[in-house]
Parts: sequence; C-alpha cells; structure tokens
Amino acid sequence: MLVSAKEMVANAYAGHYAIGAFNLNNLEWTKSVLKAAQEMNSPVIVQVSEGAGKYMAGYKTVKDIVTDVIESQGITVPVALHLDHGSYEGCKKCIDAGFTSIMFDGSHLPFEENVAKTKELVAICNEKGMSIEAEVGAIGGEEDGVVGTGECADPEECKNIAALGISMLAAGIGNIHGVYPENWPGLRFDVLEAIKAAVGAMPLVLHGGSGIPDAMVQDAIKLGVSKVNVNTECQLAFAKATREYIEAGKDLQGKGFDPRKLLAPGAAAITDMVKYKIEVFGSANKA
Ligand code: 13P
Repeated sequence: MLVSAKEMVANAYAGHYAIGAFNLNNLEWTKSVLKAAQEMNSPVIVQVSEGAGKYMAGYKTVKDIVTDVIESQGITVPVALHLDHGSYEGCKKCIDAGFTSIMFDGSHLPFEENVAKTKELVAICNEKGMSIEAEVGAIGGEEDGVVGTGECADPEECKNIAALGISMLAAGIGNIHGVYPENWPGLRFDVLEAIKAAVGAMPLVLHGGSGIPDAMVQDAIKLGVSKVNVNTECQLAFAKATREYIEAGKDLQGKGFDPRKLLAPGAAAITDMVKYKIEVFGSANKA
C-alpha cells in the first residue's frame, strides 16, 4: 500500500537517518527500487519528474505500475509515491492521480507567489493526508532540461516557507543535479546550519544525491537532512551494466537479445545501487 512520506521523514529526522527518494523511469526501475527497499527492510520514496511521468505514459500509469508491483511482488515496506519538482499544474494532476506525496517547486517564482501557491497546495495535501515538499533556492545542474547554477537558499525565506505547514523542505546548499564537476567545492555546511537554525525541527531534503561523497551525505543527515534524492547514479549503473552485456556480445548469443535478458543486468545494477544508498542513508531495518 502507498503511504504519505510525512511520517517516514519525520521518523528519519528524529532518528538521524534519511529516506532515499529514487527517481523512476520505467517498469524495470520500479521493480528494482522496490525490490531493494524490501530486501533492506527500508521505507522508500519513489518519485517521477514531470518528464518521466510523461515518458511513462502519464501519472495514472505511474501510480498503477507502482501499486501493482507492490501487490504482485509482495512489497510490505512503506512506499510513498512522490512527484519530483512539480509545477502547480503537475501537482494538481498527481493529487488527482492518487500520488501520496508531491513536491511543489516554486523556487523559480517570485517569493510571494511561491508562498501563496505552496500554501494552497499544503491545504489540499492536509485534507488528503498527503505529504508535500517545497523548495527555496533553485538546485543547480540539469533537471528535465532546465539548467540552474548552484545556489544557496536564503535561511529567512526557508523559515517563511517552512512555517506554511509543509512536510519537508528542499533548500539549495551548493548541491547540483547530475554529475558533479571536478572542481565542485562540496556542500555548504555553514548554509545548512543557518537553515536548520532558522527552520527548527523541519526535515530537509538533499537533491542531487548522486556523486556526493558518502561521508559528506552522512554529515548532512546529522544536520537534519531526512530525504536524499538519487537519480543519476542509478542511471549510470544501469547504462554501465547494459553496455558491458552488449560489449561482451551476450545479446548475440542464443536468445540474449530478449529484453528480459538484455535488461536484467541493468535492473540488478539498480537494485545494488539502491541497497548501497539505503545503507549509507541509515534507513535499513527502519520499515
Ligand atoms: P541526481 O540525478 O543528481 O541524483 O539528483 C536527483 C534529484 O535531486 C532529483 O530531484
């Protein structure tokens, strides 16, 4: 059964660990991520960006795939289905489609508009028992073709958004989506501390979780990060395993071209990556 992420992240905040939020792309991704969470006995958030939602034939299809895989594969750990970086319209669509969590990303809007729209969506989510993530200060890097620069959120703005009754807050602390450049200076712990001081007991979300050194992620978790988003590292693991299969000529042996065989190493690589991340985030056996 799908659940809201509210209790998951609140428990993670109190217990000083983080919940992994893994982006989905298709059926293989869905099965692989949920398998990993079940094997690790960990709560998990599965999420789609608006682009991935479109790719997977719409939010209803995403919701149906996730709920059917939970049922058919005997998944018993808590699973939240979340919209990643939603527009106002996208959030409304996911609420209607039966998602249990949304992120409203109003970080690019004038601050007053971000506040007003977040407030409106908080009221709907409360009524439906859903969790809601808000964002202050755009996360850098590339997200669905939108490239931002590595920003740091203003703690005062974080405080004002956190006061709206959201379940978790994404705030830029020098993190970026995608592969980190060689010269990336690392997370801004001074900014994270200032945000934590401003927002109080509010679970924080670390976007761009791929490629940040494990110890740095764990330090961020100690400072209140309770949800870590991972997308690129699963994609890279899938691509590498698939490339190795083809480069070894395995698709040319027997029925090696059968997609059930061709995609199997990539799917297993996603499961391994998710299990590794769950270990790093400390959410194993917290289901
Ligand atoms: P990465 O692709 O860098 O892991 O970022 C994922 C993310 O933050 C999705 O919102």
